[in-house]
Amino acid sequence: MISTNSNAPDDALNKAFRPIYYLGCKTSFTAAIKTAIDDVDPSGGRLVDLFSGTGSVGAALGAYREITTVDVQEYSRVLCAAVLSPPPLSQAAIKEVVTHVLHNEITKLILWCLQPLIEYERECIEASLTGNTEALVELLESHPLAARATFVLTSPASCLDYATCEALRRLHETGLWQSAETTVTRYFGGLYFSYEQAVMLDAVLSIAEYSDEQTKNTLKAAALSTASQLVNTVGKQFAQPIQPRNKSGIVKSGLVKVVQRDRTQDTLELYQVWLGKYAALSSAIGKPQTIRHDYLDAITQYGPTFSVIYADPPYTRDHYSRYYHVLETMCLRDNPSISQVMKHGSLVFGRGAYRVDRHQSDFCIRSTAPTAFESLFKAAREYDLPIVLSYSPHEADDGTHPRVVSMSQIIEIANQHYKRVEVCSVEGVTHNMLNRSGLKLKKRDHAEVLVKCFR
Ligand SMILES: C[S@@+](CC[C@H](N)C(=O)[O-])C[C@H]1O[C@@H](n2cnc3c(N)ncnc32)[C@H](O)[C@@H]1O
Repeated sequence: MISTNSNAPDDALNKAFRPIYYLGCKTSFTAAIKTAIDDVDPSGGRLVDLFSGTGSVGAALGAYREITTVDVQEYSRVLCAAVLSPPPLSQAAIKEVVTHVLHNEITKLILWCLQPLIEYERECIEASLTGNTEALVELLESHPLAARATFVLTSPASCLDYATCEALRRLHETGLWQSAETTVTRYFGGLYFSYEQAVMLDAVLSIAEYSDEQTKNTLKAAALSTASQLVNTVGKQFAQPIQPRNKSGIVKSGLVKVVQRDRTQDTLELYQVWLGKYAALSSAIGKPQTIRHDYLDAITQYGPTFSVIYADPPYTRDHYSRYYHVLETMCLRDNPSISQVMKHGSLVFGRGAYRVDRHQSDFCIRSTAPTAFESLFKAAREYDLPIVLSYSPHEADDGTHPRVVSMSQIIEIANQHYKRVEVCSVEGVTHNMLNRSGLKLKKRDHAEVLVKCFR
């Protein structure tokens, strides 16, 4: 077993790397999380970051302990692998990657297929700058190419219809329709990114496939970070494309500014910067492991190799897979069915272009969450693993949904499996030690809480 690295620089904690804009990212709390983990497991053995998301906790603590990250999503595995095991990439090698993307035959071919829409979108944005937003709104409200495979021109057809038909024709002619090389373009072009940005994201993902596993993860992760910075939505998540009109059907006043700001960003320029950031990261100690698995399968399969669990499951009815489905599809590069919704009595494609098979977490459903927590504590106890669990209590009007399980429910379950359960607030100077009878924290300490379960 590798012991704790007491010489690792403390300033690495709390200003850790943020690969994407992410809800509930724990970057700002990693020092407190480390203290809690060392408290429940002073051995310094392998830590499993069980719902790893961006990998912020694993990455920050990877200087001190061996790390395994587990998350059910592939994009999380890719991000974690890139932050824990960065490949040696010099500035010259990074420039070479970017040049390769630009001059690659496949890039040129996809650009040619999409040229009608790329040019049309540019014209729409230019027209909107002079006050004519009609064409831009039509483009923003249209479905992505993946939902228009059987598109037939009807009369009267708009300029957008002609450009779409020609792009579809070229994709079919070149054999790129249904190809992994055009996944981002077909599913998210025009919707979350400009058509040109989507093509360039496909191009960088395509180059990644030809690299060794370690470099591939970094090249893909840099594409995810770039997508997170490019995306043309409110809040930089992927839950909902930009809505050009308000509820009364009037075009929103800030629309043109936001569209121009996001959709004119240069994909390759950003990508090069992100590659540099990933290349500058330090490797985690020992042998980091990054696993795409359900939490319970991971404990059952790898339990004996772990020394302590850090668990940060979702707590609201907002499934992470809804907010980050674009990143998942970028990693899988498959052809998922797009979910449909009922509108005026018939099924139509939903605005978000979500994957039908996107993951539905038991932790986000009121009826299943208590059992999911029960399974987590029970399985961890079977392998004699102490746990640190993150919880962020809900405040009225804090902009988040109420939690599907309460703090007291969680503590009650934890107490059934662990000898001692303590709760401490992360920000507070005061540490509130709670037991079965005292489950109340002071209001000002509610921002973020750690539940420590001792063997
Ligand atoms: C609150 S986020 C974790 C954030 C992370 N600590 C960070 O700082 O980036 C919760 C994560 O749990 C994952 N998740 C949800 N249900 C899961 C399950 N059954 N098994 C494994 N991971 C799951 C989601 O994909 C999401 O990435």
